[in-house]
Amino acid sequence: MKLFIDTANLAEIREAHSWGVIDGCTTNPSLIAREGGDFVATIHEICEIVQGPVSAEVIAQDAAGMVREGRLLAQISPHVVIKVPLLPEGIKATAIMAAENIPVNVTLCFQAGQALMAAKAGAAYISPFVGRLDDISADGMELIRQIVAIYDNYPALQTEVLSASIRHPEHLIQSALAGAHVATVPFKVLRQLFDHPLTDKGNAAFLRDWEKVPDTDIIGQVERWLAAR
Ligand code: E4P
Repeated sequence: MKLFIDTANLAEIREAHSWGVIDGCTTNPSLIAREGGDFVATIHEICEIVQGPVSAEVIAQDAAGMVREGRLLAQISPHVVIKVPLLPEGIKATAIMAAENIPVNVTLCFQAGQALMAAKAGAAYISPFVGRLDDISADGMELIRQIVAIYDNYPALQTEVLSASIRHPEHLIQSALAGAHVATVPFKVLRQLFDHPLTDKGNAAFLRDWEKVPDTDIIGQVERWLAAR
């Protein structure tokens, strides 16, 4: 499973990337606005850090405008993926850009039929919004399961399921169990993936016990051992 970070915050992206587990990044207009920086410069900087797929969303609402914006955004970096909303005009724009080998992430997917349309148009990714469905008492994870099952039935459909709007670690775990190809995860949730009280307790116990060994300096011990060989 590929792990993307869902943010436009450069400090968060740098920190998560330093862990060596980040394959890509997704942004949207709200995330870009939250950071207050220049859109193009931000996308370029994210691509430089991540060196993997980075979604940049179009704002035009007609296919011609989306394609125009998409073609330009794609020139920022070979890592840019054009994000388009799941509207009829967005699907039309997806088909045009896919034919030009511009990768498209179709966003704002809330039902499986929409995902089928995106795949038929040649989208590189479909982004079902798990958390926003849960917010209205629908079952976001069931949508992931349905889309994965539908795409699996038709191997000619090459679109990857990108589980989005993830609110907590369990959303990520369930997405992985359902077979989503990618999950895009906010920094806060990525950080939570490390947390377990037994990990902290066990680590503290190992450190306490290490103080009881005759020589606690691992580096010094190994360097002396190597030099004496
Ligand atoms: C990512 O591609 C989506 O835009 C994002 O996951 C939406 O998350 P939200 O529902 O928390 O805004």
